[in-house]
Amino acid sequence: MKQNLIKQFSVSNFPRTRMRRNRMSSFSRKLVSENYLSINDLIYPIFITFGTNIKEEIKSMPGIYRFSLDLLQKEIEIVSALGIPAIALFPKIENHLKNSEGSEALNKGNLICKAIQISKKTNPNLGVICDVALDPFTDHGHDGVIFNNQIDNDKTLKILCEQALVQADAGCDIIAPSDMMDGRVGFIRDKLDDNGFVNVQIMSYAVKYASAFYGPFRDAVGSSINLSNKSKSSYQMDPANSDEAIREVALDINEGADMVIVKPGMPYLDIIHKIKQEFNIPLYAYQVSGEYSMIKGAINNGWFDEEKIVFESLMAFKRAGCNGIITYFAPYIANLLKDNN
Ligand code: PBG
Repeated sequence: MKQNLIKQFSVSNFPRTRMRRNRMSSFSRKLVSENYLSINDLIYPIFITFGTNIKEEIKSMPGIYRFSLDLLQKEIEIVSALGIPAIALFPKIENHLKNSEGSEALNKGNLICKAIQISKKTNPNLGVICDVALDPFTDHGHDGVIFNNQIDNDKTLKILCEQALVQADAGCDIIAPSDMMDGRVGFIRDKLDDNGFVNVQIMSYAVKYASAFYGPFRDAVGSSINLSNKSKSSYQMDPANSDEAIREVALDINEGADMVIVKPGMPYLDIIHKIKQEFNIPLYAYQVSGEYSMIKGAINNGWFDEEKIVFESLMAFKRAGCNGIITYFAPYIANLLKDNN
């Protein structure tokens, strides 16, 4: 029925129907605009590292830095002044602290816990999101522990629960399990609840593909050398699959997820759209490191207009159905949106 109407009105009625009429003036384009990008949609990932007075650029992510803890406060102040609602923290720890079990993840005084505390002290109202996964902490670079030559799901779950607890205890607002182990959301929810953290939210990386777009991130957190050419395909999703994404989201909602992430973003807009149609849960895209590097690389070569490309790439997520976007462009775009208001 709808299809017939579309045919009737858009094909046969020219010149009475002119699509360009609504596009002719700036005020009209504003009135007919279907989607809107706001500072409230943004989550900014920040890389932290050991040492002092360190602000080092990540080679494969021009314009993105790792900060030592003493410089973090200033970054938090900048992000806060822009009105960005939340940050996602990622650590690069010293190599000698890594082991096969990722036990540094459970150290209450680890880099990530200290970073949470600095952020909360600087601005208690800035939402802090932390990855729950072992890859920045393991000497093999995998997200889980290895047993009988496999990434062992159930042994990993136990550690993840402890990791989530340590982060919640340090003041983290949103726990973001990112390793695609089965059952983790439910296990973590129970663990948090049993320890009184009933209001700590869970933003699940429900749909995370085994993607080459994570390459620059693995440089950033220092897991690429350890991981070498090993694959994460036994836990992350096959890029060929789409129905499987729906099952993953359904399971995570049942296990108690408050919000879900699709990752990477731009190559998976179809998945975002599909999830939005199936479920009423807050949905986020992670515009991952490789997407950032592609776009930024072309900007730096003078091939793209920075403002236009960043805006367009983020608007695509809103159009597809996202409530928000985790993006390395967050401060850049927040600056522009601020000036435009
Ligand atoms: C790991 C993790 C990854 C990212 C976020 N958490 C990479 C991976 O799975 O290897 C990727 C983020 C990005 O590429 O920007 N748990």
